[in-house]
Amino acid sequence: MKKAEAVQEKKVGLPVVNSFNEWDLLEEVILGVVDGAAVPPWHVVLHATLPEKQWDFFKKNSGKPFPLEKIEAAKKDLEEFVHILEGEGVTVRRPEVLDHCRPFAAQDWSSSCGLYAAMPRDVLLVIGDEIIESPMAWRSRYYEPIAYRSLIKEYFKKGARWTAAPKPQLSDELYNYDYIEPLDAQHVEYAITEFEPTFDAADFIKCGKDIFYQLSHVTNEFGIQWLQRHLGDTYRLRRVEVNDTHPMHIDASFMPLAPGKLLLNKERVPKVPGMFKSWDIMYAPTPCMPANHTLYMTSTWINMNVLMLDHERVIVEKGEETIIKAFKDFGLKPIPCHFRNFNTFGGSFHCATVDIRRRGALESYF
Ligand code: ARG
Repeated sequence: MKKAEAVQEKKVGLPVVNSFNEWDLLEEVILGVVDGAAVPPWHVVLHATLPEKQWDFFKKNSGKPFPLEKIEAAKKDLEEFVHILEGEGVTVRRPEVLDHCRPFAAQDWSSSCGLYAAMPRDVLLVIGDEIIESPMAWRSRYYEPIAYRSLIKEYFKKGARWTAAPKPQLSDELYNYDYIEPLDAQHVEYAITEFEPTFDAADFIKCGKDIFYQLSHVTNEFGIQWLQRHLGDTYRLRRVEVNDTHPMHIDASFMPLAPGKLLLNKERVPKVPGMFKSWDIMYAPTPCMPANHTLYMTSTWINMNVLMLDHERVIVEKGEETIIKAFKDFGLKPIPCHFRNFNTFGGSFHCATVDIRRRGALESYF
């Protein structure tokens, strides 16, 4: 067989959904949309995770759309990101645009609205050829997978596996209504209990057979147990101890970039986890984000929330000059993109995407 034919055969052979780590050559992603984003109702899980500066905004505006000019500005950033990804050879798919301002209810609770379909990383966990819909702990996010269903159905028809974790009841037993603000990261009491399994996909990060996770205000031990048993012996779920006073989503704390290259948040993971002793470590430099920039749902550490296109190319926020330089010194090729106005809505390039297909196979890196 000629070389070109062999490559072609390999291409045909790759499952439509195929993702085992953060760094194999990226071929297809889902990128979120901000259209229709709604301010979710106040609840203990928001209290535990949102920046204090923003609490009043949420209390006053719940059930309403986010300010339209902020949505428009974020859409511009997304357009630039699409353009860059396509230019780099990545196929970009988008969820359905829905109005998230509509109320819904279950037996024990109701929500005045949803949230958005801006952060596919939070809701869809892609492991190998399987798409798992997360059992999310925020009531306002209960129906979030719906915006992705037409894509998921298409991937399923092309051979992907499709699973939804047990639908959580999200009744009051799940929540720790006595939650109090921690004095420091050593004394965090989670805002959720062990009543039933819950997790957000963004509390996991894949390194082949080893999948790292943090416990958080949305991911409990019951959720971890469910996922480990579901995945079986092929994968090992490994906890990362993260010193975060408001933990939700691991990807602004702990980011494997390539085999042997780990990006860490020095405040949250000051001690390199034992398994990574032989890896090169890069600590994210202090973010450049101006203090007056609105961030509804995150800290400024989303400067390290980057997307790897392969072992070298990394998409990074254009104004984050310190991390751009640090990436170059670390042997990577940064590709800058404006994304501050998207950051406003709670994440950066990693949150805004979910890998559908990377050209690679399941391996063990440890
Ligand atoms: N909780 C993190 C922080 O405030 C942000 C994580 C965002 N990640 C995501 N997948 N939405 O620093």
